[in-house]
Amino acid sequence: MSARAGRPIKVALLGCGTVGGEVARLLTEQAGELAARVGAPLELAGIAVRRPDKHPELPPELLTSDATALVESDVDVVVELIGGIEPARTWLLAALRAGKSVVTANKALLAEHSAELSEAADATGADLYFEASVAGAIPLLRPLRESLAGDRITRVMGIVNGTTNYILSAMDSTGAGYAETLDEASRLGYAEADPTADVDGYDAASKAAILASLAFHTRVTAADVHREGIAGVSASDIVAAKVLGRTVKLLAICERVTSADGTESVSVRVHPVMLPRTHQLSGVGGAFNAVYVEADAAGELMFYGQGAGGAPTASAVLGDLVAVARNQVVSGRGPRESAHAALPVRPMGQTPTRYHVSLDVADVPGVLAQVAQVFAAHDVSIATVRQRDRHSTASLVIVTHLAKDAALQSTVDEIGKMDVVREVVSVMRVEGED
Ligand code: NDP
Ligand code: HSE
Repeated sequence: MSARAGRPIKVALLGCGTVGGEVARLLTEQAGELAARVGAPLELAGIAVRRPDKHPELPPELLTSDATALVESDVDVVVELIGGIEPARTWLLAALRAGKSVVTANKALLAEHSAELSEAADATGADLYFEASVAGAIPLLRPLRESLAGDRITRVMGIVNGTTNYILSAMDSTGAGYAETLDEASRLGYAEADPTADVDGYDAASKAAILASLAFHTRVTAADVHREGIAGVSASDIVAAKVLGRTVKLLAICERVTSADGTESVSVRVHPVMLPRTHQLSGVGGAFNAVYVEADAAGELMFYGQGAGGAPTASAVLGDLVAVARNQVVSGRGPRESAHAALPVRPMGQTPTRYHVSLDVADVPGVLAQVAQVFAAHDVSIATVRQRDRHSTASLVIVTHLAKDAALQSTVDEIGKMDVVREVVSVMRVEGED
């Protein structure tokens, strides 16, 4: 039996807001049950917040505004639920360098500094767990890091931001435009006062970096992720998608790409896509998250659930806390960072994608041939064309085969400048049809 078996495991909680408040509540309410599962009591040794006077609901003897002193005290585990890069980074590095295990939900920090944090953990044998950082309550990172560690993952594709999924779902059901729907989402409390991180795709890009790092055993940071938000999605895009039996979603897509010469790289990107309404991710509405994983031996897997919120996210944090505490009871540790593959990240322009292009063109002889010629000139192969006549114009809907994204972009740029093209109604990448 380990020397520390039965001795309380002292936990420092940094941050007691939406998620931290639920963690503190569950740690207190379920103390007996958690002690039984861990094999030792989990003792909440202190709670650091910015403004202790704003927390009359918490035991005053536990509250402090001095997180540095709390991290440096004789705690065994530091749970960080503050968010942002600094001062969280400094506190977590200090904890790990002192051999204290860390549990965090901080996707922004992990997407930029996970290498530094992992190295600090490895140097002392401390644990670094971060299940809640992607897709809230959904058990996703542990399956990637542990359950699928013997498989070869080829793709991770999902809805990892609830705010943007809520807005796109509402645009789809009401037909309203983006700005109007964002206002409504803010009024109802689904979008934050400053929704930039969500609607511009930064939140999803951080999550994509974490997912790709785990899936492909490669260090991927937020800066490596191609990012487009949903501000450019128009009511016309939603209508164009509907006409073709598709829906618009903001996806995080992490793919293993194999070149003709057999060299491998990874593509990591966040952007709006049109998905067939029959695809599993299409039916995920409102603020829910869902992630679809493909692996050589396991085949297709789907993870679905609540991607945010105090209690759902606290569930993932507590799962991590139990795991690191169990490791401490047996003097062991969980999985270390696995970045041995070190695959290059493919630039977006070199990534194979498919486009949907919807155009209004002059209804005169030869127009279809002229448009098709531009695609051919850029080495882009057309998969389907639909034409519908109006009075003096025709509506053309073109879907391509896979081509390099840069070639597709240049094609669309050139088409937009053609005299016969009256309007480029909608341009969007297509997924889920290969
Ligand atoms: P909140 O803003 O609700 O809470 C933040 C907490 O951190 C507050 O208690 C605040 O203190 C405290 N804090 C902030 N700065 C400091 C500081 N300098 N020193 C000490 N305490 C500080 O954040 P959330 O609970 O929403 O998010 C926490 C983390 O969880 C973030 O990394 C977030 O990305 C992640 N996350 C959140 C989800 C959610 O649904 N909310 C979902 C998944 C992940 P005070 O109370 O005094 O202001
Ligand atoms: N702002 C995030 C979302 C919270 O909308 O999904 C969860 O990370």
